[in-house]
Amino acid sequence: MDLTGKIALVTGANGGIGTALVRELLRQGVAKVYAAARSIDAVTELSHLDERVSAFRLDITNAACVAAAAEQHRDVDIVINNAGLNRCMWLLGPTGMEAAREEMEVNFFGTLAVCRAFAPIVAASGTGVIANVCSIIGMVNLPVNGTYCASKAAAHSLLQGIRAELAPKGVRVVGIYPGPVDTRMTAGQEMPKATPAQVATAIVAGLANDAEDIFPDPMSQAVHARLLQDPKQVEREFAAMIPAGS
Ligand SMILES: NC(=O)c1ccc[n+]([C@@H]2O[C@H](COP(=O)([O-])OP(=O)(O)OC[C@H]3O[C@@H](n4cnc5c(N)ncnc54)[C@H](OP(=O)(O)O)[C@@H]3O)[C@@H](O)[C@H]2O)c1
Repeated sequence: MDLTGKIALVTGANGGIGTALVRELLRQGVAKVYAAARSIDAVTELSHLDERVSAFRLDITNAACVAAAAEQHRDVDIVINNAGLNRCMWLLGPTGMEAAREEMEVNFFGTLAVCRAFAPIVAASGTGVIANVCSIIGMVNLPVNGTYCASKAAAHSLLQGIRAELAPKGVRVVGIYPGPVDTRMTAGQEMPKATPAQVATAIVAGLANDAEDIFPDPMSQAVHARLLQDPKQVEREFAAMIPAGS
């Protein structure tokens, strides 16, 4: 797909992978980026990035907000569902139930709402794309992020489902499965991390090259390769990553 002149929309565009995606899309020659953020301050900041950026408020868990976003942005070719939430909670931890509900609300229901609202718009574009940022730990559960992993597993299944439903309409649905990335979401977690810019470059290159699934960093590529080879062994290894004494 030639990105030149396309119109893209990125959710959760303030900071982390979202802002890096906005910058990379601009570098690759898109005509316009609708940069969506939850807070008005973030919207104001994003508006100053580039004259091709049009920032607006969008809480993906708010049905009226999502409907208004679709009503007001009817020329979108590419939707990148990047907004996400990680409460870093164990499934059986003290607030596991609340964390699971909050994460499902954003990572599954919010993403689904945006897909539903924008599906007819990207279908009308003729070369429409919906790209959802899932996670490599939606493919294998990492217990310290147990509730988040479950929500990202749901997001992965959602992606497969809408891919099937939108194929007859000519819409390409792309799955994005990063490993650890150095953003607010992983602050304070000591491990090797890719930078948001590295990941955004790989994601946008994947979109340009018509990739169906994108593993945008060395860690996600390695884990995915091992999952294809021996998923039970990977599950056992991730299960063993429980800190001593917990
Ligand atoms: N960092 C990683 O290691 C990693 C790995 C795999 C996948 N991911 C995924 O990558 C995506 C981007 O995350 P990130 O790492 O860049 O973390 P981040 O900096 O925390 O960004 C998350 C973004 O999602 C937004 N968001 C959360 N709830 C929202 C809602 N209800 N409506 C609209 N926006 C909402 C946040 O907005 P506020 O600023 O208002 O909270 C923020 O802009 C997420 O889907 C995440 O799950 C991250």
